[in-house]
Amino acid sequence: MTSKFAGIGARTVEKAQMLKDANLYPFFRKIEDSEGTIVKIDGKDQIMIGSNNYLGLTHHPYVKEAAIKAIEKYGTGCTGSRFLNGNLNIHEELEDKLATYTGHEAAIVFSTGMQTNLGALPAICGPRDCMLFDSENHASIIDASRLAMGATFKYKHNDMESLEEQLIANINRFQKVTIVADGVFSMTGDVAKLPQMVELAEKYGAYIYVDDAHGIGVMGNKGAGTMDHFGVTDRVHFNMGTFSKSFASIGGVLTGTKEDMNFAKHMARSFMFSASMPPSAVATVSACLDVIEEDDTLHERLWRNVEFMRNGFKEIGFYTYDSSTPILPVFIGDELKSMQITNFLADKGVFATPVIPPAVPKGEALIRTSYMASHSIEELTKVLEIFALVKKEFQIPSQISE
Ligand SMILES: Cc1ncc(COP(=O)(O)O)c(C=O)c1O
Repeated sequence: MTSKFAGIGARTVEKAQMLKDANLYPFFRKIEDSEGTIVKIDGKDQIMIGSNNYLGLTHHPYVKEAAIKAIEKYGTGCTGSRFLNGNLNIHEELEDKLATYTGHEAAIVFSTGMQTNLGALPAICGPRDCMLFDSENHASIIDASRLAMGATFKYKHNDMESLEEQLIANINRFQKVTIVADGVFSMTGDVAKLPQMVELAEKYGAYIYVDDAHGIGVMGNKGAGTMDHFGVTDRVHFNMGTFSKSFASIGGVLTGTKEDMNFAKHMARSFMFSASMPPSAVATVSACLDVIEEDDTLHERLWRNVEFMRNGFKEIGFYTYDSSTPILPVFIGDELKSMQITNFLADKGVFATPVIPPAVPKGEALIRTSYMASHSIEELTKVLEIFALVKKEFQIPSQISE
């Protein structure tokens, strides 16, 4: 029975039930224990290749100790927003550290990445403004555009001609035009064409907002982000990141100029009207930044693992969208098959997640895999052996067009 509140979502709920009945439902899997790269489900170990823990810092002893110490000093929560009673000295210290890390002048931290977009974008895009956004932007940007008083227009995914068309069509119709795009796209792992985007923004007098949830901690020098990777930090007006991926916790950050951050602090409603990041999360992120600063092998190990897996998948004959990031999507095509393969992988001891329409176009289901600095080559070798079995067991096209 579907809830009477399901409305237009009724089909989704029914589909979920059908998958449950067929023992193919791949969501809400219950993790009983975790060591980072290994998780326990139904009493059995699985190698985790379905998380965003790119630097593998969730179980780092220094990071865990920092979180515990923060709880001992400040308690478990702030019980109020930054604006009123929930502003700790460590929130402000973290903001200073993040500004230095990203290369922007100032930073403000929010309680989640989603809240960062939901607060910042409507603040930036007022009634006489508009946003131009990539058609594959994250759901939180889409929701932010619904909250914003200004207009939004989509351009084709990472297509600079389409972006320029939208700039020409809208630059004189609105007071401010802001281009909004993921730095690294979360499902396919491809990277925004930031150098061309900043050129276009400057040519037409527009602004740029990058959602670098999957780029911060990973791309650029010591993970300073996609804008750093392309050397365009001072040409990006707003950069957003989350702490729910490389920074082993929860929370979000917006960076930019001092004036713009001061403006966002007083105008972003999710910042002002929601309780602040808990002390343990603040200390976790701050400790992750210390580890990144100290440990030169972290990014070396991450990219070694990504290279190892990219080559491995290629040898087996899988198409991984030519991704150059730790997100390696494995093209499957058929939606049902992607669920069956997820089950097959789990049975053999690998945790990966299927990505199905509408998150990807129809007929382009994939298994999203992603890698951590902390994966061992032994673990990754085992993952490739199991994917080789997948290739034998299931008919999978080696290109999208087949
Ligand atoms: C591109 C992108 N932006 C924003 C978010 C939201 O971040 P958080 O999970 O920290 O709320 C995510 C998380 O999945 C994401 O992938």
